[in-house]
Amino acid sequence: MWPLTIILFTNILLALSQIHKFMLKERETLIERELKMMVGYSIELSATELVANEIIMNLKRKEIDYSFWNPKYYNLLKHFFEYKELVKDTKLYKILKSMPKGAVLHGHDTGMLGPDYVLELTYCDDLWICFKEDQSDVNFVFAKHRPTGWCATKWERAMDIRRTTNATEFDAKLRKFFTLVVVNPQEVYTDLDTVWDYFMKYFIRTGPLFTYKPVWEKYYYDTLFALREDNVMYFEIRTVLPPLYDLEGNIYNSVDTAKSYKRVTEKFKKDYPDFFGAKLIYAPVRSVARETVKNYIE
Ligand SMILES: *[C@@H]1O[C@H](CO)[C@@H](O)[C@H](O)[C@H]1NC(C)=O
Repeated sequence: MWPLTIILFTNILLALSQIHKFMLKERETLIERELKMMVGYSIELSATELVANEIIMNLKRKEIDYSFWNPKYYNLLKHFFEYKELVKDTKLYKILKSMPKGAVLHGHDTGMLGPDYVLELTYCDDLWICFKEDQSDVNFVFAKHRPTGWCATKWERAMDIRRTTNATEFDAKLRKFFTLVVVNPQEVYTDLDTVWDYFMKYFIRTGPLFTYKPVWEKYYYDTLFALREDNVMYFEIRTVLPPLYDLEGNIYNSVDTAKSYKRVTEKFKKDYPDFFGAKLIYAPVRSVARETVKNYIE
């Protein structure tokens, strides 16, 4: 009985190993076919490009190997907020930053620049600030004189607050309203809906800060500048084309906002002729009535 069982067993093993080999080969063929469909597959690197590629790939492999042997430093095991600043210090990141990248094809009007930049905007003249009673939120508006309304406490000039209180502490308090980054993200952002709420509130609270016409145009110019710093040469911007306002009480319409984008793009291209340009994609809120859609189209 035994020998027969062993022979049968061996045969089964052999058969399995044949099947396994066959499947591996199939798998390789599939991967090969998939590679051929990838963008850039047909590009052949020159000798120097191959050298450059090897430098980058080596840095990448080194990072991965290091994480493999030192799992406590393996970034992808952590929350993004914990390592996002560390990434910027790596050699790989610095090389990637300076490499030509062509285009950014998806960006939203006021979601492009970071909290330090937005904080700097609050140094502009004629900005008024109103904190909620429990300090949990803040409103902004530009005006020549103290605004009335939209404030349960008191409108104060940003400039005056900085003069009369500790400006460092004030800035730190304000900056928190311009970022999702916190030290305890797992506790604050318990689920997707919660983080989405925080995310949306940023756009709502900064609305009147950004839609002040001079700020809007500056923000867009500085966005193009930041992209060019990253060696991005072309930008497709999705915008809700919000009405802009100025200190004289003028409210501009969506077409004016589009004109602002065009004018600033042209100015930027004149200042930096190597920049390829930008394309505007009108992307207003979609959950609206039919009538509103007709207005959008017009
Ligand atoms: C302002 O606050 C910061 C941080 O709390 C502190 O280091 C600094 O000494 C304060 N400056 C003044 C003038 O009190």
